[in-house]
Amino acid sequence: MQHTAPGMSNDPLANKHQAWSALFSEPMSELVQRYTASVGFDQRLWRADVEGSLAHAEMLAAQGVIGAADLADIQRGMAQIVAEIEAGRFAWKLALEDVHLNIEARLTALVGDAGKRLHTGRSRNDQVATDVRLWLRGEIDKLAVLLREMQRALVELAAPHTDTVMPGYTHMQVAQPVSFAHHLLAYVEMFARDAERLADVRKRVNMLPLGAAALAGTSYPLDRERVARTLGFDGVCQNSLDAVSDRDFALEFSAFAAICMVHVSRLAEEIVLWMSQNFGFIDLADRYCTGSSIMPQKRNPDVAELARGKSGRVVGHLMGLITLMKGQPLTYNKDNQEDKEPLFDTVDTLADTLRIMAEMVAGIQVKKEAMKRAALKGYATATDLADYLVKKGLPFRDAHEAVAHAVKIALGRGVDLAELPLAELQALQPRIDADVQQVLTLHGSLGARQVLGGTAPEQVRAQIARHRARLAP
Ligand code: ARG
Repeated sequence: MQHTAPGMSNDPLANKHQAWSALFSEPMSELVQRYTASVGFDQRLWRADVEGSLAHAEMLAAQGVIGAADLADIQRGMAQIVAEIEAGRFAWKLALEDVHLNIEARLTALVGDAGKRLHTGRSRNDQVATDVRLWLRGEIDKLAVLLREMQRALVELAAPHTDTVMPGYTHMQVAQPVSFAHHLLAYVEMFARDAERLADVRKRVNMLPLGAAALAGTSYPLDRERVARTLGFDGVCQNSLDAVSDRDFALEFSAFAAICMVHVSRLAEEIVLWMSQNFGFIDLADRYCTGSSIMPQKRNPDVAELARGKSGRVVGHLMGLITLMKGQPLTYNKDNQEDKEPLFDTVDTLADTLRIMAEMVAGIQVKKEAMKRAALKGYATATDLADYLVKKGLPFRDAHEAVAHAVKIALGRGVDLAELPLAELQALQPRIDADVQQVLTLHGSLGARQVLGGTAPEQVRAQIARHRARLAP
C-alpha cells in the first residue's frame, strides 16, 4: 500500500491528511478541507498557542522527557515563528487545518526532530482548550479596564447634575422627579455588576486543561502544576475528560457579555430617545451622529442605535454557544471548534461598543431646561402631595384619592398642581396648608427622597463619592 502520493513530502505535517498517521490512503477533498479547517479564524490564538507550547516544552525538559538541546531548539524555532507572524510573513496553510498544526509544522521545518517532540504528552484537545482560556483571560483583563472607563464616564457626566431635575418614568409615563445624576448612576450600578460578573468568570476561565492530553491523561510524567504556574493559571483542571470537553467558561463569558450588552442597549435606547426632538434632553457631539442623504435637517444618533442593535448579535452568540454544548457526549468533539467565531466576535463587539459608548457619554451635552419642562408636565409631584397628606394624618389610600381629584382638575385646566389655588386644594382636602407649595416643587420632591439609594441630591452626591473611590485608578 502506498501512503505517500507522488509529489507529497515525507514530513508528516507537510500534508495534513498524513498528519495523523499513515493510515490514510486518500487525500481530503477540497470541500472537506475547507469545511473542517479553522485556521482562517483560529490563527488569532497564535500567541497563546506559542506560550502554551513553550511552557509545555520547558516542563517536558525539566521532567527529563525531552533533552535540553531539544528545548533550546524549540525555543529558538518559536522565537522565529513569533517574529514571522508579527511581521506578517508567516504562511498560514489551509491544508494544515488549524493554528496548532500550522505552528507545529513550521517549527518542525525550522528545527527538525525537536519540533516533532513538542507534542509529547499533549493532544490538540487539551492544547486548544488551553489556548482559548489563555487568550480569553487576556481579553477579560482588557474588558475589565473598558468597563471601568465606561463607569467613570457615567459618574463624571453625573457629577454636576445632582440638582438637574428630569422626569423619572415607569411604563414610559412621567412618574416622579429624579435627578439626571441619579438616573445615570443606575447604569453605573449595572456596569459595576457586569464588572463583578466578569471577575467571577475569570476565576473559572483561568484553569489549566493541558496535561489532560486527548482525554484520559498521559503516561508521561508531566508536572501540570508547573505548567499552570508558568502560564499564570490559578489552578489545574482536575478531571482529564472534563478538561478537554468543558466550554462552560466560554458560555459564562458569553452570558456576561450578553447581559452587559443588554445594559448598553438600554442606555443607548435612552440616548436615542433623549436626543429626539420630542424629548430634547441632550445633544450628542457631531462626530457620533450621521446625516441623512435625503433629509437635510437630520442628525441621527447612529452610534447609539448600532450599540443597541449589536446587542442582538452578542445575545445570539450566547444562544449559539449554549446550543453547541447541549447534548454533547464526553469528551472532545469537533463541534467545539465552532466555539471560536462567536467568542471572538463577542469580545470584539463588546470591546468596541464599550469604548465608543464611554467616549460618546463623556461628550453628552445636557439640556437642563428641557428636562425640567418635561418633569413639570406630567404631575410628577403628585406622590409628594399624597405623602404630604399622610404626614398630616390622612390614611394613604384617602390621600391617593384626594390627589387624583386634584390632578383631574389640573388636567382639565391644563395647569400644574402647583398652579392650583390654595383654596381649591383646601376644598378638596382641608388638611392642606400653605406649606404645600414647597412640596409641589420639583426640588422639594427631589430633596424629600433622603432614603439610602434615593434621588435626594445629598444621597446622590454620596453615591458619586463612593463610585469615585471605588473606580480610582
Ligand atoms: N481546531 C480544533 C478546535 O478548534 C483543535 C482541536 C482538534 N482536535 C481534534 N481531535 N481534531 O477544536
